[in-house]
Amino acid sequence: MTEIRQRLLSCLGFIALLLASPPGLAADDVVLKGDAVCTECHDESEAYPVFGIGKTRHGTVADARTPTCTSCHGESTRHVKNQKAEGQKERPKPDIVFDGPLRGLPSARVKNFAAENLAPVVSKRMILPAQTLNAPCLKCHQGDKRIHWQGSMHETRDVACSNCHQVHVQHDRVRDRVTQSEVCFMCHKEQRAQITRMSHHPITEGKVGCSDCHNPHGTAGVKLLVRDTVVDTCYTCHMEKRGPFIFNHQPVTDDCTICHNPHGSSIANLLKTRPPFLCQQCHEPTSHRGNVPGLLNGLGTNAGTRGITQGRACLNCHTQIHGGSNPTNNAESRSLRR
Ligand code: HEC
Ligand code: HEC
Ligand code: HEC
Ligand code: HEC
Ligand code: HEC
Ligand code: HEC
Ligand code: HEC
Ligand code: HEC
Ligand code: HEC
Ligand code: HEC
Repeated sequence: MTEIRQRLLSCLGFIALLLASPPGLAADDVVLKGDAVCTECHDESEAYPVFGIGKTRHGTVADARTPTCTSCHGESTRHVKNQKAEGQKERPKPDIVFDGPLRGLPSARVKNFAAENLAPVVSKRMILPAQTLNAPCLKCHQGDKRIHWQGSMHETRDVACSNCHQVHVQHDRVRDRVTQSEVCFMCHKEQRAQITRMSHHPITEGKVGCSDCHNPHGTAGVKLLVRDTVVDTCYTCHMEKRGPFIFNHQPVTDDCTICHNPHGSSIANLLKTRPPFLCQQCHEPTSHRGNVPGLLNGLGTNAGTRGITQGRACLNCHTQIHGGSNPTNNAESRSLRR
C-alpha cells in the first residue's frame, strides 16, 4: 500500500513538474540552440553582458558554423553540475575562462552601466596559458588573415585573441578604426606617445587605423606589416611615391622609415631628423662638387651656407626628394631638383 502510494505520488510529482516547466530545455536557448545548459543560470541580470553576443556575428542563428557557449568555454560539466572536488568550496570554473579586457566588470546595477563604455585594460590575472585560450578560436578562424598567426610576434609573446577582441559586446573596439588604437595602446605605450606629436598619421582622428599598416594576426614580412616590405605598405596609400621616376633616390626605394617615423614626429612631414642633418647622415657636407651659388663647395671657398641652413635647407633646391622625372639627363634633373 505505502509502496503504491509512493509510486503514485512520485508519478503525480513528475506530471506536476512537466506542467510547471514546458517540456524540452530548448525553450531556454536564449541565443542559440544548445545555449540553455548555460543560460539557465547566466542571463542579463548579471554584470557580464552575456547576451550581447546575440547581436554579433557569433549570434547568427541561421549559420550552422555559429559557436554556442560551449564551443568557446568548453563543455564545462563540472561547472554546470557544481561537482566540487574534495575540499573545494567554490563552484568549479568552466573549462575555459577567458581573460579579456572586460574581466572584473562592475555590477550591472551601476547607473547607466554599459560594458561598451569601459576603457580596455590588460588583465593582470591571466589564469590559463594563451595557447589554451586561443585554441577554440583557431578551430574556426585558422585561415584567411590568420594564416601567419603561428610564429607571429603576438603568438610567440603569448597575446590572446581575447586580449584584443571583445566577443560579448556588439561593438568590438579593436575592429573599429576610431577605437582600435586604444586597444593597441594598452600594451604599446611608445607608439601612443608618438602619435600625439605634431606630425602624425590621422590615427586618433579615426582616418587611418593601425591595421591599415599592420596585420596583428601575423604576416610573412617584418613588423607585422600588411605588405612584405615597408615601401609596399606605404605605397598602398602614397602611390605617387613609387613613381616611376627617371631618377630614383636610393633610400626612398629602400625603406621610407630611413627618413620618416610612421607613427609620429615633432618635425613636420613625420621626419626623423631635420634637414640638413637628415641629409648629411649620408651626404658629406662637401658633396657639392660644383660651384652652387650660395653654397659652400668642396673647397670651402664659396660665400656661405645660407641656402643650407635656412628655410627648407637642402629642400630649398632639391625639391623632388622622392624621385625626379625630368627627362633631360643633366645635373639639374639628376640632382632631384625638378
Ligand atoms: C547551475 C548554474 C550555472 C550553470 C548551469 C552555469 N554556470 Fe557559469 N557560473 C555560475 C555561477 C554561480 C558563477 C559564479 C561563480 C563565481 O563567481 O565563482 C559562474 C561563473 C561563470 C564564469 C566566470 C568564471 C570566472 O572565474 O570568472 C563563466 C565564464 C561561466 N560561468 C560560464 C558558463 C558556461 C559557458 C556555462 C555552460 C556550459 C555555465 N557557466 C553554466 C553558475 C552556473
Ligand atoms: C566566441 C567565443 C565565445 C562564445 C560563443 C561565448 N563566450 Fe563567453 N566569453 C568569451 C570570451 C573571450 C570572454 C572574455 C571576456 C571578454 O569578452 O572580454 C567571455 C566571458 C564570459 C563570461 C564572463 C567571465 C568573467 O570573467 O566575468 C561569462 C559569464 C560568459 N562568457 C558566459 C558565456 C555564455 C553563457 C555563453 C553562451 C550564451 C558564452 N559565454 C558564449 C568567449 C565566448
Ligand atoms: C564554432 C566556430 C567559432 C568559434 C569557436 C569562434 N568563432 Fe568567431 N566566428 C565564427 C563565425 C561562423 C563567424 C561569422 C563570420 C564569418 O563568416 O567568418 C565568426 C566571426 C568572428 C569575428 C568577426 C565578427 C564580425 O562581425 O565580422 C571575430 C572578430 C571572431 N569571430 C573572433 C573570434 C574569437 C576571438 C573567438 C574565440 C574566443 C572565436 N571567434 C571563436 C565562428 C567561430
Ligand atoms: C593584437 C590585437 C589582435 C589580436 C591578438 C587578435 N586580433 Fe583579430 N583582429 C584585430 C584587428 C585590429 C582586426 C580588424 C582587422 C581589419 O580591420 O583589417 C581583427 C579582425 C579579426 C576578425 C574579423 C576579420 C577577419 O580578419 O577575418 C577575426 C575573425 C579575428 N580578428 C579573429 C582573431 C582570432 C581568432 C585571434 C586569435 C588567434 C585574433 N583575432 C587575435 C586584432 C587582433
Ligand atoms: C596584450 C598586449 C598587446 C596588445 C593589446 C597589442 N600588442 Fe602588439 N605586441 C605585444 C607584444 C608583447 C609584442 C612583442 C614586442 C614588444 O614587447 O613590444 C608586440 C609587438 C607588436 C609589433 C611588432 C612586431 C614585430 O615583429 O616586431 C607590432 C607591429 C604590434 N605589436 C602591433 C600591434 C597592434 C596594431 C595592436 C592593436 C591592434 C597591438 N599590437 C596590440 C603585445 C600587445
Ligand atoms: C602608416 C603606417 C603605420 C601605421 C598607421 C602604424 N604603424 Fe606601426 N609601424 C609601421 C612601420 C613601417 C613599422 C616598422 C618600422 C619602424 O619601426 O618604424 C612599424 C612598427 C611598429 C611597431 C614595432 C616597433 C619596434 O620598434 O619594433 C609597433 C609596436 C607598432 N608599429 C605599433 C603600431 C600601433 C599600435 C599602431 C596604431 C596606433 C601603428 N603601429 C600604426 C607603420 C605603421
Ligand atoms: C591607409 C593609408 C596610408 C598608409 C598605408 C600610409 N599613409 Fe601616410 N598618410 C595617410 C594620410 C591619410 C595622411 C594625411 C594626409 C593629410 O593630412 O592630408 C598621411 C600623411 C603622411 C605624411 C605627411 C605627414 C604630415 O605631417 O603632413 C607622411 C610623411 C606619410 N604619410 C608617410 C607615410 C609612410 C612613410 C608610410 C608607410 C610606413 C605611410 N605614410 C603609409 C595615409 C596613409
Ligand atoms: C631620404 C629621405 C626620405 C625618404 C627615404 C622618404 N622620404 Fe618622404 N619626405 C622626405 C622629406 C625631406 C619630405 C618633406 C618634403 C618637403 O618638405 O617638400 C618628405 C615628405 C613626404 C610626404 C609628405 C609630403 C608629400 O610629398 O606628399 C609623404 C607622404 C612622404 N614623404 C612619403 C614617403 C614615402 C611613402 C616614402 C617611401 C616610399 C618616403 N617618403 C621616403 C624625405 C624622405
Ligand atoms: C640613407 C642615406 C641617405 C639619406 C638620408 C639621403 N640620401 Fe640622398 N642619396 C643617397 C644615395 C645612396 C644616393 C645615390 C648616390 C649615387 O648614386 O651616387 C643619393 C642621391 C642623392 C642625390 C642625387 C645625386 C646624383 O647625382 O644622383 C641628391 C640630390 C640627394 N641624394 C639629396 C639628398 C637630400 C637633399 C637628402 C635629405 C632630404 C638626402 N639626399 C638624404 C643616400 C641618402
Ligand atoms: C642653393 C641650392 C642648393 C642647396 C641649398 C643644396 N643643393 Fe645640393 N645641389 C645643388 C645643385 C645646383 C646641384 C647640382 C650641382 C652639380 O651637379 O654640379 C646639387 C647637387 C647635389 C648632389 C649631387 C652630387 C653633386 O655634387 O653633384 C647632392 C648629393 C646634393 N646636392 C646634396 C645636397 C644636400 C645634402 C644639401 C643640404 C645639406 C644640398 N644639396 C643643398 C643645389 C643645392
